[in-house]
Amino acid sequence: MKTKMPIARSGRFTGEPRAEVAQFTESVSYDWRLWRQDIAGSIAHAKMLEKVGLLQHDECDSIVNGLEEIAREIGAGNFPWKPELEDVHMNIEAELTRRVPAGAKLHTGRSRNDQVALDMRLWLREEMLALGEETQSLQAALVDLGTRYAGVLMPGYTHLQRAQPVYFAHHLLAYVEMFARDQERLGDAFKRVNICPLGSGALAGSTLPLDREWAAKLLGFVDAKGRARVSRNSMDAVSDRDFVIEFSGIAALLAVHLSRLAEDLALWATTEFNYIKIDEAFTTGSSLMPHKKNPDVAELARGKAGRVIGNLMALLVLLKGLPMTYNRDLQEDKERLFDTMDTVRATSRIMASMLRHSTLNAPVCGAAAADPVLLATDLADYLVRKGMPFRQAHHVVGAVVALTEKLGKPLNQLSLAEYKSIDETFGADVLDVFHLEQAMAQRQLTGAPSPRGVRQQLAGWEKRLKDRKGKPVFSVS
Ligand code: ARG
Repeated sequence: MKTKMPIARSGRFTGEPRAEVAQFTESVSYDWRLWRQDIAGSIAHAKMLEKVGLLQHDECDSIVNGLEEIAREIGAGNFPWKPELEDVHMNIEAELTRRVPAGAKLHTGRSRNDQVALDMRLWLREEMLALGEETQSLQAALVDLGTRYAGVLMPGYTHLQRAQPVYFAHHLLAYVEMFARDQERLGDAFKRVNICPLGSGALAGSTLPLDREWAAKLLGFVDAKGRARVSRNSMDAVSDRDFVIEFSGIAALLAVHLSRLAEDLALWATTEFNYIKIDEAFTTGSSLMPHKKNPDVAELARGKAGRVIGNLMALLVLLKGLPMTYNRDLQEDKERLFDTMDTVRATSRIMASMLRHSTLNAPVCGAAAADPVLLATDLADYLVRKGMPFRQAHHVVGAVVALTEKLGKPLNQLSLAEYKSIDETFGADVLDVFHLEQAMAQRQLTGAPSPRGVRQQLAGWEKRLKDRKGKPVFSVS
C-alpha cells in the first residue's frame, strides 16, 4: 500500500527516498517507545501555542483529543507504525494531521531537534526514578539477607586470599553503600536531565512568541521553588547529549557494582567455597553433564556489564567529532540508551530476587572464619599495645606464623614457651587474642565490623529503606 509522502520531505522534494534509504535511516522500529513522552510533549506544546494565541481554543482541543485518541490506540497495540515516516515523532504527527486538520499547526515553532531532545529527557526522568527504586529494592534484599545471618562470620579477602574475619552482613553492606552512591549520582545527574529544551527549534529558537517557561512548567521541568528550568542556549539544547552520556556513565558504574556482586555470589556458590546456596530456580543445568547446576543468572549479570560499558564508549565516540549542532548521527544514541537502561534495570531486579532466594551455609562460613591465622594482625596489635613498634611486631608475628607452619599447629595451640622463643614480649595473655568474639568486639571504629557496629548498620539501613519506601529515591527538583 502506498502511504503518504513523509512529512519532513514535503514541498522541496519531488519524490520519496529510495526504499533502501528509508530502511537505513528509519528509527521508528525502536524509538516508538518514546510515544508517551512524544504525546505528552506535543500536548504541552499545543496548550502553550493556544496560550500565546497561535492556536484557537477549538484547534488546541481537537489536537489534544486527537493525540489522546492516538495514545489509547498505541497503548492497545492498534497503531499502524510506518517505517517510511522515519520516526516516532513523524508517525504520530502525520496520523494526527490525517485525523485532525489543526494537526498541521502542531509543529509551529518546533523542530524534531528540540522535540527529540525533549522526549529523551522526559523518558530518562521516569526511567531514572524507576531504576533508583529498583536499586533500593536490591539494597533491601541485601540488608534482609544480612539480617537473616547477622551473627555469621566469614573470612574477608584481599588478593582472594583469606585475610581477616568479617561478618557476612558487613560484606553485603559494602554493596549497599555502593548502590547508595549510585543513587546519589543518579540524583545529581537528574538535575541536568530535568531541563526543558522545547522552544529551541531546529537550532536557533523561533521568531514566534512562544512561552518556553510556561510549557516547561506544564511538563514538570521545575526547580524546588517551582520555577521553570529551561535550556539557556538553543544550539546547545538541540545538540547536547551530555545527559545521555552522564546517565550511561552512572549506569556503567552501577553495572560494575552489580557485576562484582554477581562474581562474589558465583564464587561463593562453588564447591570450593560452598558459602551460599543459590536457589535452583536461579540456576541452569548443563546439556551434557547431568550433575551441573550453574549460576547462569549471576554470570549473565556479570557479563551484561560488558554491554553497558560498551554502550558508554559508543556514545562518547558518537559525540566526539560532531560539528554543531544537530546531526543525524545523534539518532544512534537511542538504542544505546535504551539498552543500557533495560539492562541495568533488569539486572538490578533479578539480583534482588536471587538474593532473596539464596541461603547461607553458615557452618562452612563460620569454620572458615575460625582459622586463628586470620587474627595474625590482632596478634601484631597485641604486641603494639605492649609498646612494640608495628613494623617490628609485623616481623615477629611473621616469624610466629612460620613456626606454626613448621610445627604443623595453629596459632592458638602454640605454647607460651614457643611464643617466647620468638620474642620475649609475649605474655601469658597471648592466647586471649584468639577469642574470636572478643576480637570482633574490639573492631569498634566507625565502619569496622564489630558485632554492634554491624547490627547498627543493618538496623540503620533497614529504617532508612523503610522510611524511603514510596518516595522518590532522589529529589526531583
Ligand atoms: N529521529 C531523529 C533522531 O532521533 C529525530 C530528529 C530528526 N531531525 C532531523 N533534523 N532529521 O535524532
